[in-house]
Amino acid sequence: MFAERFKNRLMLQQQTGLYRQPPEVKIRDGKYLSIEERRVLNFASNDYLGLGVSEELRQRAARNFGKYGTSSSSSRLVSGNYSIINKAEKEYASYFGYGDAIFFPSGYQANLGILSTILERGDTVIFDKHIHASSVKGMTMSGANFLGYNHNSMPHLGKRLEMCGSQQVAVLTESLFSMDGDLLDVTGLGKLKERCRFLAIVDEAHAFGAIGSGGRGIAGPVADIAVGTFGKAFGFFGAFVLLPEGFKEYLFNFSSPLIYTTTLPEAHAATAIDILEIIERSEDRRKHLRDVSQFLKEGLRLEGFRVTGDAHILALEIGDEAKAVNMARKLLQRNIFVLPARYPTVPLHRSILRIGVTALHEEEDITSFIDHVKGASGELK
Ligand SMILES: Cc1ncc(COP(=O)(O)O)c(C=O)c1O
Repeated sequence: MFAERFKNRLMLQQQTGLYRQPPEVKIRDGKYLSIEERRVLNFASNDYLGLGVSEELRQRAARNFGKYGTSSSSSRLVSGNYSIINKAEKEYASYFGYGDAIFFPSGYQANLGILSTILERGDTVIFDKHIHASSVKGMTMSGANFLGYNHNSMPHLGKRLEMCGSQQVAVLTESLFSMDGDLLDVTGLGKLKERCRFLAIVDEAHAFGAIGSGGRGIAGPVADIAVGTFGKAFGFFGAFVLLPEGFKEYLFNFSSPLIYTTTLPEAHAATAIDILEIIERSEDRRKHLRDVSQFLKEGLRLEGFRVTGDAHILALEIGDEAKAVNMARKLLQRNIFVLPARYPTVPLHRSILRIGVTALHEEEDITSFIDHVKGASGELK
């Protein structure tokens, strides 16, 4: 019964170019991966500062796990509410300029945990149509009414806000969009906030650590709540949510994805504190990341490719799903690894190659990437 349904669905995925089969990665070595017996240059990583492969972080994490052990063994609400976790959360809140902070086992769980709890039936959520799947899931789980606005369009968001009556309203957006690579119009959102009352919830997963002063992202002046993940520029795993005071108490009492899960171990919190110190002094890495990202965008555009992205995430527009997959395959044969993003991650027939630039990339890597994109695209004509 189930097997038949799965077989049919998977066949349909293949026919429409949407079939997903991630390649197996044998080894990661800095900016290189070992895939299908090849050493390939990785342009599909979110380890934007390269901390996830740095010797310093490796040693600090190993020391912390040696000191504290490997498991918290329970939820925060049972015996897992360790002092070091509370200390780390306070340090994150203070560094990013918020009243409070709370850690979650992943960014996906963080978005489910906050949105499904803070919002409820009778509230209205207005969301950018390109927000991450985890925000969509959290928002729908909440039971609130929801309305989408066109991607990054403040005029359209303004119109949506006019439609709201006396309900409590939240606006959901990202600061650096995970697939389009463009930045939130922070000034525009700020102006709307002056006109209308709403709770601004901004997912800064791709911005924190990598952009803004001291890696503080860009939405601080407008966001009431901000979501960050450790799995991207922080080179680690798990997530943190920055909150106004009082919200943490509410989440501890009502957030099912927080209450009924084993908390990340103390060693994680101790390492998160170490990472914050590394992030603060990573200005050179951030500058290099900016420079190589800009160099890549300009280089691809000079070769006639349509590329969007304001920072280290670049979207090379392809369109057709099968063509995006073939292009990525051709690039893999040329020892370049890059992700073809397709529906439902991006809109139907608007497939892209989603390029993740990191501070590990050097100018020669960028030049080589552009040459291979040119070559692979020529082979597909
Ligand atoms: C915008 C955004 N939010 C949240 C997440 C989820 O974070 P995590 O990978 O820590 O679950 C992602 C991850 O891909 C993301 O792109």
